[in-house]
Amino acid sequence: MIFGAIKFMKSYIERAKARQIKENPIILAIESSCDETACAVLEGRTHLLSSEIESSMTEHIRFGGVVPEIASRAHTTAVSLVVKRALENSGKKLEDIDAVAVTYGAGLLGALLVGVSYAKALAFALGVPLIPVSHIRGHLAAIYLADENLKPPFISLLASGGHTAIIEVEDYGKYTVMGGTLDDAAGEAFDKVARVLGLNYPGGPNIERLAKEGNPVIKFPDMLKGKGGYDFSYSGLKTAVINYVHNKEQAGIEYNKADVACSFQHAAVEVLVKKAILAAKEKGLNIITAGGGVVANGYLRETLEKEAEKSGIKVVLPPKKMCTDNAAMIAAEAYLCYKSGDFADLTLNASARVELG
Ligand code: KG4
Ligand code: ZN
Repeated sequence: MIFGAIKFMKSYIERAKARQIKENPIILAIESSCDETACAVLEGRTHLLSSEIESSMTEHIRFGGVVPEIASRAHTTAVSLVVKRALENSGKKLEDIDAVAVTYGAGLLGALLVGVSYAKALAFALGVPLIPVSHIRGHLAAIYLADENLKPPFISLLASGGHTAIIEVEDYGKYTVMGGTLDDAAGEAFDKVARVLGLNYPGGPNIERLAKEGNPVIKFPDMLKGKGGYDFSYSGLKTAVINYVHNKEQAGIEYNKADVACSFQHAAVEVLVKKAILAAKEKGLNIITAGGGVVANGYLRETLEKEAEKSGIKVVLPPKKMCTDNAAMIAAEAYLCYKSGDFADLTLNASARVELG
């Protein structure tokens, strides 16, 4: 039995290795790290042929966050559907695919396993290389789809549900993390503040909507004060907002939720913008890029562009729909892995945590 499996695996590796590395490969990428089941087909570095997403978000809303078991089950029913749709919309056939890429981490283990198992089976059946992609690197690579001429070095701001970081991208695949998440990530703070204001999960878009009706009149703690370096601590700001709301409610005092949302958003965004610009200046770099769900925030995008311009720094951002989880960004990172021959065999496993460096 075991010898049969080894022979099986060897035959796959030989077939995959025998494939010629192409200049403009067609990569099919699968993403299933959280509640989105996504598949994209990318030709070469920037020619996105299709990008499909199914979300199980509506099933999680009443729980106030993503329920791993529900997400995993939803992936099992959605994955083949999404792959089929992405392939059809790309105008390509299965036999045109040169490599299969998949998010192997970070994320929810059960959810990741659905995509990883599917991708392994597909790569094996097609006899093409399997590319393991880090979800975090995927978020950072989304900008290559936004600007086909973009080349490192640059500073990258990562702001998602699980991470906040300032990264120096020295070359393709060469990252130095200048600062990261000390407690709550930026997206997590948006989600927790949304909850205390009675807004649904995911909190970011709902806070942004409500903030448009308010003004930044409430003074929450200055996130830059006392915090040296490029690390981020959102826990103090989050607690200050929660305390503000609870104090008002306990005392029966009316308060303006839109002003709370707007003041929180201002404080949360200011620190991201200031640290990204500071990092670019320190490293003498004149490009800032960004990735992750929070980068879909209109106020963050406008402020970063406006403030960076004052210092002669160019800002390159992914389109909003490529900031939140999608498979196009996984394909973009997979293209870089393909070029450097970074492939996996069929023992590839899912991993809940992945280091960026
Ligand atoms: O990158 P992402 O889709 O998933 C992770 O890899 O974590 O990020 C999700 C996070 C959530 O916390 C969500 O509230 C936040 O991104 N988010 C936003 C916006 N859209 C999504 N935060 C602020 N403003 C938005 N418009
Ligand atoms: Zn993500």
